[in-house]
Amino acid sequence: MTVAIKARHPALGAEVTGVDMRRPIDAATVKAVADAWTEHLVLVFPDQPITDAEHVAFTRHFGEPEIFHQTSLNLRSDRVKEIFLVSNVDGEDRLMRPSEPSQKQLSSARQWHTDSSYRPMPSVGSLLHGIEISRTGGITQFINMYKVYEDLPESLRRQVEGRRARHDFGMLHLITGAPPPTKTEQDAMPPAWHPMVRRHPVSGRKSLYISSIYNDAVEGMEAPAARRLIEELSEFAAQPQYMYRHVWEPHDVLMWDNRCTVHAVTPHDPGERRVMHRTTIVGTEPVVAG
Ligand code: OGA
Ligand code: MN
Repeated sequence: MTVAIKARHPALGAEVTGVDMRRPIDAATVKAVADAWTEHLVLVFPDQPITDAEHVAFTRHFGEPEIFHQTSLNLRSDRVKEIFLVSNVDGEDRLMRPSEPSQKQLSSARQWHTDSSYRPMPSVGSLLHGIEISRTGGITQFINMYKVYEDLPESLRRQVEGRRARHDFGMLHLITGAPPPTKTEQDAMPPAWHPMVRRHPVSGRKSLYISSIYNDAVEGMEAPAARRLIEELSEFAAQPQYMYRHVWEPHDVLMWDNRCTVHAVTPHDPGERRVMHRTTIVGTEPVVAG
């Protein structure tokens, strides 16, 4: 099989064919995927009916899979601990209501964010496998934050250069109404401060680094001004010329770079099942200021 790459949007996102995640992957294929990832930021692998074990094994070619620290809401699979469940179906295969705590927490993904940015060494990337996909919404949207940084109006650029923002997992419940983290959970994941302009360790390029669902403070700013800045930056970023919108087909696997993109999912009919499994690649280095 030869690997072929086809861009899906001028800003980011490309389809990859010629990779079968159910089979061992050779070094040349890993290199082709890694190079395409650096160039396109989000890769779409259509038609990958993989098991969770195959999903984790493929992920390991690109780093160590994260084990989600929070256990109280059953968002971590108890069968394969590296799998994070983006799902509205419970362990007994019953549809969950939007008022369930886990569903409230997952609803935060409708706002622009990048995964695990609250860690001292934030995630490198994530791989999401669409098992039961939505037809009424559930479109996952991605933004190229290199381009956003390059195009930032001077007034916004001035406010982010040389500044750090705080990323706190404990923010989630404030915006979703999900249960607040327990003291143990909060102590296990204290807030982290990261530069708002970062340099990508592989491409060497600079990008804007924000994660609106976790950002609760910006250095040298009062809280309301900090929130306003994050909102303004997110709004500027969310323009069609920077955005790839992924309309899912069953068994698509998406692989995105958490260092230079943000993502958000559109709402869907809560009466419709949506089952996705995610692995998250752990970061191995602190965020470097750009
Ligand atoms: C995620 C996420 C998007 C989606 O898995 O990290 O934000 O489409 N989900 O559900
Ligand atoms: Mn996410």
